[in-house]
This record gives sequence, structure tokens and C-alpha cells, in this order.
Amino acid sequence: MYKIAVLVSGGGTNLQAIIDRIADGTIPDTKISLVVSNRRSAYALERAASAGIPTSVIHPKKFETPALFGEALTRVIAESGAQLVVLAGCLMTIPPELIRAYPDRIINIHPSLIPSFCGKGYYGLTVHEKALERGVKVTGATVHIVDERLDHGPILLQKAVEVLPEDTPETLQLRVMQQAEWVLLPQAVRAFAQGRVTVKDGQAQICPEEAE
Ligand code: GRF
Repeated sequence: MYKIAVLVSGGGTNLQAIIDRIADGTIPDTKISLVVSNRRSAYALERAASAGIPTSVIHPKKFETPALFGEALTRVIAESGAQLVVLAGCLMTIPPELIRAYPDRIINIHPSLIPSFCGKGYYGLTVHEKALERGVKVTGATVHIVDERLDHGPILLQKAVEVLPEDTPETLQLRVMQQAEWVLLPQAVRAFAQGRVTVKDGQAQICPEEAE
């Protein structure tokens, strides 16, 4: 059984997509061993509890030093038996201790086609506001491997979504979630669960699935 830990901060729709794909078998032989949030109020924690998934709330400010936070977060994830860490709407800065413990095995979903509209300050609705301001005709979402720099690691999957003339940031965010995020993140988890991901020389590749 492949085990994953999911880090959340908000509504948890990306977490829900993974829960649903595990339930319908799209993601095979996989279990969410733990959901961790930095926000006790995150609705994602309700989603986890409803699915019978253990949860933990860990807030960086509760620790005397960033290193103690990093060690505590890494410990609780490792103790859950997780082999992959998934950032799903996670607004926590990922500590170096966790990155060192899970080299090339932390993934993040970002609501744009990286390298556009990413980096410091680009999260949630802001990403879509900036895309509309710039007047791009296509945006989308990206799943990437997490490294020490924000939204920077090797790109694993991307999916384009058309920007419509009548779009608001809200309508665009919802379409990107529906058409890209909720599709790509489960696809990435499935690939890891099936051992089809390789990361080499800063490039990430997913090997095609073998014909049934
Ligand atoms: C989404 O836009 C996601 O791309 C970003 O956080 C937002 C909320 O995600 N990372 P979720 O509903 O909490 O999964």
C-alpha cells in the first residue's frame, strides 16, 4: 500500500479530488496516511475527518525556532509512513528539514503554467487576477517537484485552460481547478504510486503506463 501525506491550508478541493480518485480506484493501492494543516480552521481538515483520515495541525509560530518546526513537521509525516508528500492548497513555507527527508518526493499544485505567475505573492486568487490583468489567453495549472525555492522545482505535469473574455478571477480560478488542478494532482499521485516518476538533472518525467 502506497502511503501519502497531504499538506493543506484552505478549502481542500484538491485533497478531495485525491480522496475521490483513491475511492474510485483511479489511484491504485494508495492510502492518505495523514493530512496536516497550519490552520485549525481549514475546511480541508473537515474533508479529511469525513473520510476517516488522521489529521494534525502544526503551526510554525508555535515553535521556538524554524528548525524545531521543520523537525516536528518532518517527524509527524515520517511517522505516518508517508512515502510521498503532496502540497494541496498549502500556504506553508516548506522547511528544508522536510525537503531533505523527502528528496524529489514532495509535489505541489500551482494554479498557473509555471514559470508564469508564480513565486512570492502568487497564490490563490491573486494568480488569476494577475493573469487577467496581463491579458493572457491561456493559463492552467502545474504540478512540480518541491525544492528549496518557491514554485521552482522540476515540472511534472501541466494542463492548459482557456481564458474567456467574460472571466472574472473567481470564474477563472474555478475553471482552472475543475479542468486542471483536480485532474493533474491525482494523475501525479497515480504516477508516483505506480513507480513511473523519474527526476534526473533537474528534469522530471512520467513514464507512460503499460497497456493493460
Ligand atoms: C487553489 O487555487 C490551489 O491551486 C491553490 O490553493 C487554492 C485552494 O486549493 N494551491 P484547495 O481548494 O484548498 O485545494
